[in-house]
Formats: sequence, C-alpha cells, structure tokens
Amino acid sequence: KKGSYDHFMQKEIHEQPHSLTTTMRGRLKDGGVLLGGLKEHLKTIRRCRRVVFIGCGTSYNAALAARTFVEEMTGIPVTMEVASDLLDRQGPIYREDTAVFVSQSGETADTLLALDYALENGALCVGITNTVGSTLSRKTHCGVHINAGCEIGVASTKAYTSQIVAMAMMALAIGSDQISTQARRNAIISGLTSLPSCVSEVLKLDAEMKELASSLIDSESLLVFGRGYNYATALEGALKVKEVALMHSEGLLAGEMKHGPLALVDEILPIIVIATRDACFSKQQSVIQQLLSRKGRLIVMCSKGDASTVCPNGSCRVIEVPGVADCLQPVINIIPLQLLAYHLTVLRGFDVDQPRNLAKSVTTQ
Ligand code: UD1
Ligand code: F6R
Repeated sequence: KKGSYDHFMQKEIHEQPHSLTTTMRGRLKDGGVLLGGLKEHLKTIRRCRRVVFIGCGTSYNAALAARTFVEEMTGIPVTMEVASDLLDRQGPIYREDTAVFVSQSGETADTLLALDYALENGALCVGITNTVGSTLSRKTHCGVHINAGCEIGVASTKAYTSQIVAMAMMALAIGSDQISTQARRNAIISGLTSLPSCVSEVLKLDAEMKELASSLIDSESLLVFGRGYNYATALEGALKVKEVALMHSEGLLAGEMKHGPLALVDEILPIIVIATRDACFSKQQSVIQQLLSRKGRLIVMCSKGDASTVCPNGSCRVIEVPGVADCLQPVINIIPLQLLAYHLTVLRGFDVDQPRNLAKSVTTQ
C-alpha cells in the first residue's frame, strides 16, 4: 500500500529512517555488533585471503560503497565483481576466498549463477539479501538479512541504504577482534545509531530537489562526479536517473576526469559533483575549480556550512547535506539523488514504479 504517497518509489525513499532502523534492530549491542547469521563464521572469514563482493546494478553499487570500510576494518583485500562479468571471464575464485553475494531479491539469475560457480570453487559464500527464504539466502553458507521490508518500486532505494549499513555492520563484526581500531569502531557504532535521524534531516531536501529537477527537465544528459567513499554514490545516482527518468546519465570517478570526460564540459551539460567532507575533500575542491574554469554547469553536494567554501562566488548550485562518519556518508548522499531521480521522472511524465523495459527481479540471464 502506498498510503499517502503517489508512488512506491516515493514511499520507499521516505521510509528510509524506518527501514534503516529495522536493519540495525537487535544488532547493535553493548557497544558491539551482533550478526546472528555470521557469528559462527567470523573466524573463517578473518582467516580468508580475500573478500570478493559480487552483485548486479544497485546491489553492486552498495557493495562498492562498503568496500573501503571493509578493507579498513579487516585488513583483508576486497575485490569487486559484476556477477555477469565474473561468469564471462570465468575469473579465479579460490577456497581461501570469502565471496559475498549482494542481492535485494535474492533471485537475480546472474548473481545465483555466480554463486553456483563460487560454491563449485570451494569459497565460503556469504549472502546479503532482503528476502528471507530466497534462493540466495538458502544456497549461501551464511549471511545477513537486511530486513529493509518489502521493496516494490523497480528502482531500488531503501534496499541500497540498508545493504550499505548491513555491510558496514559486517565489517565491524569481522574487525571486532582488533584492539587498535576499537575507538574507530565505537565512533561508527554511535554514527549508526544516529543515522536514521540524519536521514530524516536530509529528506527535508525534497522540495529543493523537485525544484532542481524542474531545472534539468530538458537536459539530454547528466554527469555525476564522485571519488573515495562516494564513487559508489555517483554510480548509483546516475543509475537511478537513467533507469527511471530515462535520461542519459553517467557516474564518473573524479580522479579520471582529466583522462577523458573533461572534454565533455561546456555551459550546457549539467554536472553534479559530490564534495562532502572526508579525506578526498581538497581533491574534490580542485576538481570543482577545474570544472568552473571551463564554465561547467555545476551542482555541488557538500557538507552543511560548506556552500561558500566549495563555491566561493555563487557560481554553482549547492546541495548541503548533514555530515556523518565518512564511511556512512554514502547513505546520506544518495538520498538527494534518489529524490532528484524521482521528481525528474514525474516531471518528465514517465512511469516511476514500472520503468520501460525493466523488471523488479531479473531471473533470466
Ligand atoms: C534471526 C531471525 C530473526 C530473529 C533473530 C533473533 C530469521 C530469518 N531471522 O535473525 O527473525 O529475530 O534471529 O535472534 O529467522 N543466511 C544465509 N544467507 C543469507 C542470509 C542469511 O545463509 O543470504 C542465514 C544466516 O546465516 C542465519 C539465517 O540465515 O543462519 C538468518 O539470518 P538473519 O536473519 O540475518 O539472522 P539474525 O539477525 O540472527
Ligand atoms: C536498480 C535496480 C537493479 C537491481 C539489479 C540487482 O534500481 O533495481 O539494478 O539492483 O537488478 O537486483 P537484486 O539486488 O535483486 O539482485
């Protein structure tokens, strides 16, 4: 039921303070993380040589958003695989690997085929899924149900943020035997506790995003530049825009800008630059300078209070978002982009919940 909302996508975007709460419910205990589904396997995971994240679409992007924090907390190298590409290449998967499969539905054919492949190769297979009783949940050795509640809109929104939080909790659980990172773990756990209220705060940008959408309604394309923790935000924001608003959009690694994409910059093409505070902030500031010096049409996402720092003479549009711990910032930063994609779709007159040519769960190869 949509209740007071016009569309499921809109309802699911606005539901995120609640869905994130249910993802964390009963799992943050006595200053630590308890994931019942991983408890018995943590020792094996800690001993593995590599973690391989495997998924498609939005689920892949969620894993990418969590990757850095998993590496930081565990010291284990994490590699990324798009499920279909792993299969196309028959890429190496070893017994010493922990393969983590991320899927909202738990029924995506490419992901399930990659799971069969990893099982055959003897890896420990872990599932991160929203669907209890799904094929993924049943066939993996262990895993975490993200408990975001049923997602109906074809465009994944609340599952994305819950997947990131579930993987952040997984990183905390794997790393919980390390004394040197205890203070950092405590800070992130307290960040998780206050995350739902920060999400409520960023949802107040709804009207502002609708207004921004109306200024982009006739654009042919939209670029999104991110880096570090928020490279995934750029990919996911662009995926939302293309799949529901049917507008060409690309998420780009800002560090690659000079190596090609800069040629596209002119006064017409809208470019979103994600420049919230983290270790990459000064690099993003110089990206903004370079884009402005080429008269780029910029929309900058920055931390609250940074508008005049990122954009000194008012030469770009600014979206200010609340600041949270760096590894959780992708959960906040995707929300204005979800709202933007939603409003752009409605204003352009397209079907929000059932985009052209797409199905909620892709059960064929
Ligand atoms: C479980 C119960 C939850 C209960 C809680 C109380 C279920 C589904 N969950 O939650 O209702 O409130 O205990 O302590 O009964 N699994 C996989 N692959 C996956 C996902 C999960 O193998 O992709 C396995 C897990 O390893 C675990 C089981 O499914 O054995 C349940 O996982 P999860 O719901 O995440 O566990 P809890 O949070 O402990
Ligand atoms: C995008 C979207 C798709 C899915 C992808 C994987 O909004 O919904 O990109 O994320 O088809 O689906 P799951 O997560 O069910 O495996």
